Amino acid sequence: MAAYSITVNKKKYEVDVDPQMPLLWVIRDVIGLTGTKFGCGITQCGACTVHLGDVAVRSCVFPIESVGNEKITTIEGLSEKGDHPVQLAWKEVDVAQCGYCQTGQIMAAAALLKEHPIPSDDDIRTTMTNICRCGTYNRIKKAIKLASEKS
Ligand code: FES
Ligand code: FES
Repeated sequence: MAAYSITVNKKKYEVDVDPQMPLLWVIRDVIGLTGTKFGCGITQCGACTVHLGDVAVRSCVFPIESVGNEKITTIEGLSEKGDHPVQLAWKEVDVAQCGYCQTGQIMAAAALLKEHPIPSDDDIRTTMTNICRCGTYNRIKKAIKLASEKS
Protein backbone atom coordinates (compact mmCIF):
# COMPACT_ATOMS: atom_id res chain seq x y z
CA MET A 1 0.00 0.00 0.00
CA ALA A 2 1.09 3.60 -0.53
CA ALA A 3 -0.36 7.01 0.20
CA TYR A 4 -1.35 9.31 -2.65
CA SER A 5 -2.78 12.79 -2.66
CA ILE A 6 -4.96 13.23 -5.73
CA THR A 7 -7.24 15.97 -6.97
CA VAL A 8 -10.53 14.79 -8.42
CA ASN A 9 -13.07 17.35 -9.64
CA LYS A 10 -11.11 20.12 -7.90
CA LYS A 11 -11.28 18.34 -4.54
CA LYS A 12 -8.25 16.82 -2.81
CA TYR A 13 -8.37 13.21 -1.61
CA GLU A 14 -5.80 11.24 0.39
CA VAL A 15 -5.89 7.56 -0.53
CA ASP A 16 -3.83 4.63 0.73
CA VAL A 17 -3.90 1.94 -1.93
CA ASP A 18 -1.81 -0.51 -3.93
CA PRO A 19 0.35 1.52 -6.38
CA GLN A 20 -0.90 -0.66 -9.22
CA MET A 21 -4.57 -0.12 -8.42
CA PRO A 22 -6.30 1.18 -11.56
CA LEU A 23 -7.52 4.75 -11.24
CA LEU A 24 -11.06 3.50 -11.97
CA TRP A 25 -11.14 1.50 -8.73
CA VAL A 26 -9.85 4.47 -6.77
CA ILE A 27 -12.53 6.70 -8.29
CA ARG A 28 -15.42 4.26 -7.83
CA ASP A 29 -14.56 2.13 -4.80
CA VAL A 30 -12.29 4.32 -2.68
CA ILE A 31 -13.67 7.80 -3.37
CA GLY A 32 -17.18 6.66 -4.21
CA LEU A 33 -17.81 8.51 -7.48
CA THR A 34 -19.76 5.97 -9.50
CA GLY A 35 -20.53 7.98 -12.65
CA THR A 36 -17.48 6.47 -14.34
CA LYS A 37 -18.28 2.94 -15.49
CA PHE A 38 -16.46 -0.37 -15.79
CA GLY A 39 -16.96 -2.10 -19.11
CA CYS A 40 -14.19 -4.33 -20.40
CA GLY A 41 -11.22 -3.62 -18.14
CA ILE A 42 -8.81 -3.92 -21.07
CA THR A 43 -8.85 -0.42 -22.71
CA GLN A 44 -11.26 -1.48 -25.44
CA CYS A 45 -14.66 0.07 -24.64
CA GLY A 46 -13.96 3.50 -23.11
CA ALA A 47 -16.73 3.27 -20.49
CA CYS A 48 -14.11 4.22 -17.88
CA THR A 49 -12.92 7.41 -19.63
CA VAL A 50 -11.91 10.32 -17.39
CA HIS A 51 -9.67 13.32 -17.96
CA LEU A 52 -6.13 13.47 -16.69
CA GLY A 53 -5.38 17.14 -17.15
CA ASP A 54 -7.00 17.83 -20.53
CA VAL A 55 -6.43 14.35 -21.89
CA ALA A 56 -8.96 11.51 -22.00
CA VAL A 57 -7.60 8.34 -20.40
CA ARG A 58 -9.06 4.88 -19.91
CA SER A 59 -8.92 4.62 -16.16
CA CYS A 60 -9.46 0.84 -15.99
CA VAL A 61 -5.78 0.25 -16.75
CA PHE A 62 -4.23 3.48 -15.52
CA PRO A 63 -2.34 2.77 -12.28
CA ILE A 64 -2.79 5.27 -9.48
CA GLU A 65 1.00 5.57 -9.16
CA SER A 66 1.12 7.14 -12.66
CA VAL A 67 -1.29 9.99 -11.89
CA GLY A 68 1.40 12.21 -10.36
CA ASN A 69 0.25 15.80 -9.97
CA GLU A 70 -2.22 15.74 -12.85
CA LYS A 71 -5.75 16.77 -11.97
CA ILE A 72 -8.48 14.24 -12.61
CA THR A 73 -11.93 15.14 -13.88
CA THR A 74 -14.81 12.67 -13.94
CA ILE A 75 -18.31 13.10 -15.33
CA GLU A 76 -19.41 14.44 -11.95
CA GLY A 77 -16.94 17.33 -12.29
CA LEU A 78 -17.21 18.12 -16.00
CA SER A 79 -19.51 21.05 -15.22
CA GLU A 80 -21.16 22.39 -12.09
CA LYS A 81 -24.75 22.08 -13.28
CA GLY A 82 -24.56 19.54 -16.08
CA ASP A 83 -24.34 22.39 -18.56
CA HIS A 84 -21.09 21.68 -20.37
CA PRO A 85 -21.73 22.21 -24.13
CA VAL A 86 -21.29 18.48 -24.71
CA GLN A 87 -23.82 17.61 -21.99
CA LEU A 88 -26.34 20.13 -23.39
CA ALA A 89 -25.88 18.80 -26.92
CA TRP A 90 -26.27 15.22 -25.65
CA LYS A 91 -29.64 16.18 -24.17
CA GLU A 92 -30.78 18.12 -27.22
CA VAL A 93 -29.94 15.27 -29.59
CA ASP A 94 -31.22 12.71 -27.04
CA VAL A 95 -28.13 10.56 -27.57
CA ALA A 96 -28.39 8.02 -24.78
CA GLN A 97 -30.17 4.72 -25.09
CA CYS A 98 -29.39 2.42 -22.12
CA GLY A 99 -26.88 5.07 -21.02
CA TYR A 100 -24.17 2.76 -19.73
CA CYS A 101 -21.43 3.92 -22.10
CA GLN A 102 -22.47 7.54 -22.16
CA THR A 103 -20.39 9.04 -19.38
CA GLY A 104 -17.29 7.70 -21.10
CA GLN A 105 -18.55 8.96 -24.46
CA ILE A 106 -19.19 12.44 -23.05
CA MET A 107 -15.75 12.64 -21.43
CA ALA A 108 -14.10 11.47 -24.66
CA ALA A 109 -16.10 14.04 -26.66
CA ALA A 110 -15.24 16.87 -24.25
CA ALA A 111 -11.52 16.07 -24.56
CA LEU A 112 -11.85 15.88 -28.34
CA LEU A 113 -13.40 19.37 -28.47
CA LYS A 114 -10.63 20.78 -26.29
CA GLU A 115 -8.09 19.56 -28.82
CA HIS A 116 -10.21 20.17 -31.95
CA PRO A 117 -12.85 22.87 -31.27
CA ILE A 118 -14.19 22.36 -34.80
CA PRO A 119 -13.62 18.64 -35.37
CA SER A 120 -13.75 17.12 -38.84
CA ASP A 121 -15.56 13.83 -39.47
CA ASP A 122 -12.11 12.23 -39.48
CA ASP A 123 -11.21 13.76 -36.10
CA ILE A 124 -14.43 12.35 -34.66
CA ARG A 125 -13.96 8.94 -36.26
CA THR A 126 -10.35 8.51 -35.16
CA THR A 127 -10.79 9.91 -31.63
CA MET A 128 -14.20 8.57 -30.63
CA THR A 129 -13.30 4.91 -30.36
CA ASN A 130 -15.55 4.26 -27.37
CA ILE A 131 -17.92 1.35 -27.87
CA CYS A 132 -21.69 1.74 -27.56
CA ARG A 133 -23.51 -1.55 -27.46
CA CYS A 134 -26.79 0.23 -28.23
CA GLY A 135 -25.35 1.73 -31.41
CA THR A 136 -25.83 5.42 -30.69
CA TYR A 137 -22.89 6.37 -32.89
CA ASN A 138 -24.80 8.56 -35.35
CA ARG A 139 -26.38 10.59 -32.56
CA ILE A 140 -23.00 10.92 -30.80
CA LYS A 141 -21.50 12.39 -33.98
CA LYS A 142 -24.46 14.76 -34.39
CA ALA A 143 -24.17 15.91 -30.75
CA ILE A 144 -20.43 16.53 -31.05
CA LYS A 145 -21.04 18.73 -34.11
CA LEU A 146 -23.80 20.58 -32.25
CA ALA A 147 -21.60 21.10 -29.18
CA SER A 148 -18.84 22.40 -31.44
CA GLU A 149 -21.22 24.90 -33.11
CA LYS A 150 -22.56 26.14 -29.79
CA SER A 151 -19.22 26.42 -27.94
S1 FES B 1 -13.55 -0.41 -18.96
FE1 FES B 1 -11.85 0.77 -19.50
S2 FES B 1 -11.81 0.68 -21.65
FE2 FES B 1 -13.42 -0.67 -21.10
S1 FES C 1 -26.22 3.77 -24.79
FE1 FES C 1 -26.25 1.65 -24.27
S2 FES C 1 -24.18 1.06 -24.45
FE2 FES C 1 -24.21 3.05 -25.25
